[in-house]
Formats: sequence, structure tokens, C-alpha cells
Amino acid sequence: MAKQYDIAVVPGDGTGPEVVAEGIKVLNRVADKCGFTLNYTEYAIGGEHYKRTGEILTDETLNALGKADAIYLGAIGHPKVKPGILEKGILLKMRFHYDQYVNLRPVRLYEGVDTPVKDKGPKDIDFAVVRENTEGLYAGAGGILKFGTPDEVAVQESINTRKGVERCIRFAFEYCRKRNRRKKLTLCGKTNVLTYAFDLWERTFNEVAKEYPDIETDYAHVDAICMWMVKNPEWFDVIVTDNMFGDIITDLAAMIQGGMGIAAGANINPEGVSMFEPIGGSAPKYTGKGIINPVAAVSAAQLMLDTLGEERGASMVEGGVMKVLREDLQDVGAGKMGFTTSEVGDLIAEYIEKHY
Ligand code: IPM
Ligand code: MN
Repeated sequence: MAKQYDIAVVPGDGTGPEVVAEGIKVLNRVADKCGFTLNYTEYAIGGEHYKRTGEILTDETLNALGKADAIYLGAIGHPKVKPGILEKGILLKMRFHYDQYVNLRPVRLYEGVDTPVKDKGPKDIDFAVVRENTEGLYAGAGGILKFGTPDEVAVQESINTRKGVERCIRFAFEYCRKRNRRKKLTLCGKTNVLTYAFDLWERTFNEVAKEYPDIETDYAHVDAICMWMVKNPEWFDVIVTDNMFGDIITDLAAMIQGGMGIAAGANINPEGVSMFEPIGGSAPKYTGKGIINPVAAVSAAQLMLDTLGEERGASMVEGGVMKVLREDLQDVGAGKMGFTTSEVGDLIAEYIEKHY
């Protein structure tokens, strides 16, 4: 019998629904070609829903989503909701609840896409960041004392567990091996200042490395990584790092690969349900105009297929994305593509239809 996958779809806010629709358009074409079935169930979660109902993410929804084979998410964010509420109540809640302990962000400059990095091209910018996704400064440990007084104290601690660090590092080694490019894994830390947390990271990294003699290892401080990502991005193959550093360096990485219209991420629990998203956010100023670039959402769908084990389907999606970026789009920015959001989805789907 043909394989079936239940996909929980969270179109979310702003331009989320527009880009998710194009991702689904492409996914359906690939499913036809590969002979598997995708069953979608949509969930109303996000800032709009919160404004309307006062509900953020109920246990019932959390349980329902958790039964899916994968979660496909557009964007969460609302200009009229105080920062922190939706981020913590939805995005981080899902990452923690489903124990999606890896945030995988491939960084690849495709042909036809401009990078702000001078004299660098597609052969120089092709790496991936494996970001720990459930611990560190994001764990929410800490608090405020003497709130609002001149003696106020705010403490926010970074939580790093041996288990959490090790499973993330292990994933990175495995991923690096599977990726099979330069076979080099770089640990990104700050061992010269954060001497407790990154001591644990470094010791664990060196221990696990012994099991992967085929992978070259390297270490760089997070500030130096920022410098080299701009100066010598070709040095990187896979970078593994903690939650906060991973958050920061992947925004920089998204810029050198062509911007937020391109960058996709996967929140992965290899033993559970994973979530796939374009990392650009809800882009309120472009909402409803049909001018946002759906490529990041389509690439998130590629990561989803890859994680589900549909590798051939995933490579079809990438083939379509590469063709359209190389030959069709004038620019990757919103309103500058020379096509509408929906036309870009059509172009990718049509290419897959004809080419495979
Ligand atoms: C990301 C985002 C989130 C993060 C925010 C929205 C909570 O910036 O996915 O990188 O910090 O992880
Ligand atoms: Mn971020």
C-alpha cells in the first residue's frame, strides 16, 4: 500500500498562509510523482487566533498536533501582541513539548541568488547549522527580584545538560556524515569566557568525536564564527552550537544565503514529531499582497520530506527551487521577483511535473 503521512498544517499569521499554500502545492506534485499520500489537517494557531479567542495553544491542540507525522508551520507573530507571548506560548512551547532538540538550518547560496558577501558564490556558501533547541538561555531558568525598584535584579541562566548537549552533538556528527560533503564539524562556543557551559560542550564534543574518525573536527568562538562566516564561509561544512548562539548566527547565515525569503529550518525530534518552518516570520507589511517569496516555505517542505525519509521527493523539491532561482526569478526579495507568490509556487510545481 502507498505510504500515507498525516501533516499538521499551521499557516499562522501574516504571510504564513500565503507561503504555506505554495509549499502544499509543491508537496502535492511531489507526492503524485513519488506515489505517497499526504493528508493535511489545518490548525488555527497564532496571533490572529489569540486576538480573536484569547487562546494561545490548548493542551487539546498540542495533543492533536503531536499525533501527526510532521508539523508544517508558516509564521507566528502579530504586531499587536506583546513580544514574548506568542514566541513562548507557541513556538518555544512546541519545541519543548515535542522535545525537538535539534534546530537544523541549512545554508546554501543557490545559483542566481545574490549574496551581500563580496566575491563569494554558490561553491563557497554551502553549510548547515545544528542548533540545540531545548536548553541554554531558552530554558527559562531565572527570575526577577525586587521588580521595578532601584535594587531590581534579573537573572537568566543558561541550562546545559550532559544528555541535551550530547544528543545534539551526536545528531550533528551523524548529519555531517550523511551530508557527505567536506565532512567537517565545527563546534561554535565561547570557551574563553563561558568556562562552565562550553567546557561541558567541548568535552562532550571531543568524546563523541572519537566515534567518528571520518569526520574532521574544529572549534571556533561564536564571535570568530561571525567574522569567518562573512570572510571565509567556504571553511564551514556543519556547525554545532547552543540555542542562543545558534539563533544569532543563523540570522547572519540567512543573509549570506540570500535573505529571509530563502532560509528554512527544521525543529527535529528524531524519535518524535518534528516541525518545519520558513524562518522569516510573519512579515506584516507584505501580508495579503501576494508578493512574498515562498521559496523558504517550499524549502521547509523539502526538509520535511527528507526527515520523513522521502529523500527522492526532497531532492525533487530542491531541484525545482534551484531551477526557479537560477532561471526565473529576477530577485528573491518581496515584490521584486517578477512573479507573484502563487506564480512562483506554480513555476516550481510545473518544473517538477515536467522534469521528473
Ligand atoms: C527563531 C526565532 C525564535 C527563536 C523566536 C521567534 C522565539 O527567532 O526561530 O530563530 O529565537 O528561536
Ligand atoms: Mn531567530
